[in-house]
Amino acid sequence: MNEERYLTFALGKGRLANKTLELFEQIGITCEEMKDKNSRKLIFVNEELKLRFFLAKGPDVPTYVEYGAADIGVVGRDTILEENRNVYEVLDLGFGKCRMCVCGPSSAAELLKHHERIRVASKYPNIAKDYFYNKKHQTVDIIKLNGSVELGPLVELSDVIVDIVETGSTLRENGLEVLEEVCPLSARMIINPVSMQMESERIRDLISRIRKVLDGGAQ
Ligand code: PRP
Repeated sequence: MNEERYLTFALGKGRLANKTLELFEQIGITCEEMKDKNSRKLIFVNEELKLRFFLAKGPDVPTYVEYGAADIGVVGRDTILEENRNVYEVLDLGFGKCRMCVCGPSSAAELLKHHERIRVASKYPNIAKDYFYNKKHQTVDIIKLNGSVELGPLVELSDVIVDIVETGSTLRENGLEVLEEVCPLSARMIINPVSMQMESERIRDLISRIRKVLDGGAQ
């Protein structure tokens, strides 16, 4: 195969990227350049292994991968579901575990039971729409927010929210609770479909080495 071609990784900025790099280190993939916190560089290269890495905003990762600007991406399942891009999801990396849930005050449980036309605030309007329309067959009004979604029911913008719950402390501290679980979430590896064919050997090898580490075995 063409050994000279760089394999490019798009990593969701922040904790996810750090965890991903820790995992890659365990299979001998390092990128020293990326560890320099003062660097303003956007693209980091491992010349020896012919790998390139860049950090992107989570929701942009599936976009880079769908268009082939990155061969491989690492991003939360929440983003993959919300963005709904043409990419292959190949691996659950096991970290960044949390849940997508319908949350609200306990009094809102009744509204969910009786399929009332309620207002749902979310940073994830597509996930919310799919859950209420396709799974629950409940017609709702979806209101897109960009963060601090828990405010929705507190200031009576919405009856409930669809949001990520990790420890549950944001809900508890604001008198809200999980009313229904939409789906479990964690960090996933995604691949561009063309790269999967063209670079099949390198990508399959990478996946199998990561899988061994995740399964607790030696590489
Ligand atoms: C996320 C999520 C919840 C919170 C859940 O928000 O949207 O608000 O974390 O975590 P917990 O269950 O451990 O309290 P994030 O911190 O990403 O900020 P945002 O509200 O601005 O999206």
